[in-house]
Amino acid sequence: MAYNLLKGKKGIIFGALDENSIAWKTAERVHEEGAAIVLTNAPIAMRMGQINQLAEKTGSQIVPADATNLEDLENLVDKAMELLGGKLDFVLHSIGMSVNVRKGNHYTNQNYEWTHKGWDVSALSFHKTMQVLYKKDAMNEWGSIVALTYMAAQRVFPDYNDMADNKAYLESIARSFGYFFGKDKKVRVNTISQSPTPTTAGQGVKGFDGFIAYAEKMSPLGNATALDCANYTVSLFSDLTKRVTLQNLYNDGGFSNMGVSDAVMKGFVE
Ligand SMILES: NC(=O)c1ccc[n+]([C@@H]2O[C@H](COP(=O)([O-])OP(=O)(O)OC[C@H]3O[C@@H](n4cnc5c(N)ncnc54)[C@H](O)[C@@H]3O)[C@@H](O)[C@H]2O)c1
Repeated sequence: MAYNLLKGKKGIIFGALDENSIAWKTAERVHEEGAAIVLTNAPIAMRMGQINQLAEKTGSQIVPADATNLEDLENLVDKAMELLGGKLDFVLHSIGMSVNVRKGNHYTNQNYEWTHKGWDVSALSFHKTMQVLYKKDAMNEWGSIVALTYMAAQRVFPDYNDMADNKAYLESIARSFGYFFGKDKKVRVNTISQSPTPTTAGQGVKGFDGFIAYAEKMSPLGNATALDCANYTVSLFSDLTKRVTLQNLYNDGGFSNMGVSDAVMKGFVE
């Protein structure tokens, strides 16, 4: 169901790799809600991904950018404003990657070059994106910037590896940059802390099936889906949440405030 919540708004969606991607669902939903978008992803992901189908479906243009590369980001923001005919109202940062996770290196045995790469892609890229938007004065007043995160930033999930540290850094950037973006440009910045979700990035985490099943049993409302995340993001891009900023917002069916659930206890009592 569409409510025209984003009628006339313009924005950039990072990170749609395939139809499971949270960014993919978000692009579809913001389009349904009346927004015009530019899609972007790393050039290498474009070759593998199916982003052209999404562009067709949402009537949008694609501008490739490696989110760790400032020149790419500058080009992206310039092109997006040109293609959309003005400043932006929203940006979704939906990017994550750990080389240590990919290569199966344990948290206690990191290759620090890989750690650095994963941090640059997953966390610092958010600062770079916002710095480019800020310097170019590319956001309209009352615009909204959202990045996606996971609760391993606050609590221990051993297999989440160095991504836990990357997410803690990402959430801190949201607060620190959010202050300046709010004060100087009236733009809000938040992170959504999403349930485990079966996507390419999600399934890269060791033991993901157990992880997602456990969260499902712990959460009174069950795990939030990619579509649930897209819908929450739409609300944060809309004018209904104008003074929500500097927040890390849980979209997790209640998981983050649980101690134990009956369903989980069943495994331990006769
Ligand atoms: N899937 C989950 O369980 C889960 C849970 C909480 C948060 N998140 C977060 O949601 C976000 C989206 O991930 P997803 O689950 O939709 O997986 P996904 O694999 O579909 O998306 C990750 C995206 O990051 C992009 N990316 C990687 N390196 C990049 C670079 N250098 N420049 C630009 N883009 C780059 C990939 O191409 C891909 O499109 C990530 O931040 C992820 O950490 C995911």
